Amino acid sequence: MTPIQETIINKKTNNTPIWLMRQAGRYLPEFREIRKVNPNFINLCLNENLSSEITLQPLKRFELDAAIIFSDILMLPHGLNQKVEFKKNHGPQLGPLNLDQISKIDEIDFIEKLYPIYKSIKKVSENNLIKNKNLIGFVGAPWTLLVYMINKQSPKKKLIKDFFKDEFLINRILIILEKFLKLHIDHQIKNGATIIQIFDSWAGLLEEKDLPNYVYIPTLSLVEYVRSLGIPVICFPRGVKNYKNYCDIVKPDAVNIDYDVNPISICKEINIPVQGGLDPKVLLTDIENLKKQALKYLNTFKDHPYIFNLGHGVLPETKPDMVDYLVKMVNDY
Ligand code: CP3
Repeated sequence: MTPIQETIINKKTNNTPIWLMRQAGRYLPEFREIRKVNPNFINLCLNENLSSEITLQPLKRFELDAAIIFSDILMLPHGLNQKVEFKKNHGPQLGPLNLDQISKIDEIDFIEKLYPIYKSIKKVSENNLIKNKNLIGFVGAPWTLLVYMINKQSPKKKLIKDFFKDEFLINRILIILEKFLKLHIDHQIKNGATIIQIFDSWAGLLEEKDLPNYVYIPTLSLVEYVRSLGIPVICFPRGVKNYKNYCDIVKPDAVNIDYDVNPISICKEINIPVQGGLDPKVLLTDIENLKKQALKYLNTFKDHPYIFNLGHGVLPETKPDMVDYLVKMVNDY
């Protein structure tokens, strides 16, 4: 068993595995080198040679316990033929959402469109660098994908006023997403993903009363699906106020916490393995502070199954030396 599987499945607490969200990204000069000559982000994700190389870049530098496949949650709407573009300093921009068109997509066309992602996973899974480590496949949760598909870009602090106006559209999209997310998960696992993480980055935008419909029910269905395939599933419902409720209802194998939650109370309230929490901005400060803040998580979870990670992705301004220090420190703990 890999260190992460020991933590998630055997609930071991005497070693703390580590990997980082966005561990392959713009803070690495070797990534920027590739990115510079590949201005189209979607095409880069669909280039199996480059995406597999990028996935492995952080493993060449740091003693991490997992690789996460270099792709994006928005490859799913792309697979459904909704236009997705990443404009410089602007984040993602999606095109019009046409329900008739999306309803007609068939599974073979979808898989064909995303095929290079699966080939990339296969390549990484066959590489020596991933031995005794996990290869993490991932999807966006139905709710977060719905937000992007309707809002067309990252929402600011709240949803647009008439977000829920077209209830029929929303319910249809959620049903279509569930079907294609399962297909996407299935193909990632078949090609070598050994854990699935579900990112619900905009769960925090919903009021408590809307969580069952848009977050709990659709995510539970995915969690049960991954489990039926015999693979652990980690959920990251960023910004939800009540992580305990979420875990009790959705029942993931592990939960990633964001940096706004208090690790001490989470540790007391939640029985399942926990991942993450450290504010990525801490990596922009100094070694002293990094050590202090990382120790806070390590000490809090010393008797709880815990996977070290951040409360959100590594920021582009991060110095690789800081990541190096953090990984060594966690491994030596
Ligand atoms: O974590 C990893 O290293 C694996 C790859 C990965 C990416 N995106 C690559 C990426 C993963 C797991 C994601 C998930 C993702 N994508 C989420 C969920 C996590 C989160 O951030 O909340 C979301 C909401 C997206 C959508 C998305 N993709 C946004 C909002 C942006 C723009 C913001 C930014 O950082 O520029 C992206 C682009 C993106 N996805 C980049 C990377 C490395 C940056 C692309 C670049 O080089 O310009």
